[in-house]
Amino acid sequence: MSKETKKLQLKSGFVFDYQNMMGQGGVTENDLQELGERLQAAHKAIGVMRESGIIRGHLSKDGEPEKVLFSQLPYVKEGNLNNPASIQRLKDFSQSIRNRVDAVISFGIGGSYLGNKVLFDLHCGEFWNYKNREERDGYPKLFFNGNNIDARRTTEMLVRLAADAKAKACHGSTEPYRVMLVVISKSGATLDTMSTFMVAYEQLKALRPEIEVEVVAVTDPATGTKATLLKKLADENNWPTFSVPDGVGGRFSIFCEVGLITAACIGLDIDAFLAGARAMDEACQTDDLWNNPALLNAALKYIAAEKYGRDIEVFMPYADYLKSVAEWYVQLLAESLGKRTDRSGKTVYYGRTPIVAVGTTDMHAQTQQHQDGKQDKVVQFVKVAHWAEDQVIPDAFPKAAKLAEIAGLTLGEALETARQANAAALIGDKRPNATFVLPAMQPQHLGELLYLLALSVAYEGELADVDAFDQPGVEAYKRIMGPMLKEIKAKN
Ligand code: PA5
Repeated sequence: MSKETKKLQLKSGFVFDYQNMMGQGGVTENDLQELGERLQAAHKAIGVMRESGIIRGHLSKDGEPEKVLFSQLPYVKEGNLNNPASIQRLKDFSQSIRNRVDAVISFGIGGSYLGNKVLFDLHCGEFWNYKNREERDGYPKLFFNGNNIDARRTTEMLVRLAADAKAKACHGSTEPYRVMLVVISKSGATLDTMSTFMVAYEQLKALRPEIEVEVVAVTDPATGTKATLLKKLADENNWPTFSVPDGVGGRFSIFCEVGLITAACIGLDIDAFLAGARAMDEACQTDDLWNNPALLNAALKYIAAEKYGRDIEVFMPYADYLKSVAEWYVQLLAESLGKRTDRSGKTVYYGRTPIVAVGTTDMHAQTQQHQDGKQDKVVQFVKVAHWAEDQVIPDAFPKAAKLAEIAGLTLGEALETARQANAAALIGDKRPNATFVLPAMQPQHLGELLYLLALSVAYEGELADVDAFDQPGVEAYKRIMGPMLKEIKAKN
């Protein structure tokens, strides 16, 4: 596949189909040629980032120069953030909870949650916690919390766990019900994560000896005066710790111990996931635009926004269990590119607004707006080429002509036909769209997709001349919320 077919394919079978980005009303080859030198400069800057971690103009939250190291994560090497010993430790951790821990609660929000949910959904699907231990291959049930401060859901989760523990005792087990609380917070003090963790910790501990509570902390590994609150608690209480390393922002942390600890808890193939990310990074090292999926994706979306007013990106996987990829992408795109100023301080108000959609579900809801609403969107589809558990639609009601017509198709074929029809209808009205094709729902292909998206925003940051690695906008509400919380507490 090539520039002519407007499809770029990796050896693994992963495809970036951008035909409908360059169709009628879309980006032209001329537009891309005009960007020529800037594309080369962006590619060079990302090369420097790969080599040294340096991104021009990037400062940490404290205004200090800070390295950007996510592109190192796919490479498991001595001296790297992911190295043979750190990956082995994760695998040992995985085996240590297998057939021992009954349930894990993963506490975290934003970058300390979204990627973990992606890995969980891909590997476990919706019914994991309904399965018995054998069906889960010995791995524990897994719940997420702290991704909101929601009293009802938190309470219901704790009631559920207490009921599970009772059931275990009633079945004659002499072992306690073991719950592991995995607390993930880079800063170590995030309100949402820590408040819900404290509620769960106290309530579950009160259910001893029926329930036994273990805690694992995932936080910035700095020690001494720089140690986070969570790190201090971990040290005081002898909780095992994993790292959110310096230079890896929350939205890129799925490739480090933040995401990999969830992989370890559920038995997802860490090596395959990182191998996919690595294959994508290698594919993106060429300066040939037409063979570099991340550079090409960034350039097309950048031009679509800047020249053709496509300021909204609808991210629309055709798969329920990939909806969380769209949710992860919302954070990646919004925090990386939604910037008030460029790197010279000029006000630019840059960025596309990300929208989560799922096919076919949202064809019965959002598609009206995508098809007939403002001409301000690009739609990014994700297609799964091969469904391991496909089903043939049976001829259950042969006398019902409309139903007999679809009998004999597989669900996968029906889904893909719907996606193709959606893409054709959009481009038929000069509405650009593109498709990432995953050969199958497997960790390797997920690694390819997520890494492509991460590198794309890095490239687009260069093209737009904004710092893709800070998020100063999220501090504004925090400055207001802190004193408000203190005021409420004083009144209580
Ligand atoms: O991308 C980010 O930095 C944020 O979304 C954080 O991940 C989120 O606020 C959670 O922060 P922390 O990991 O420090 O608890």
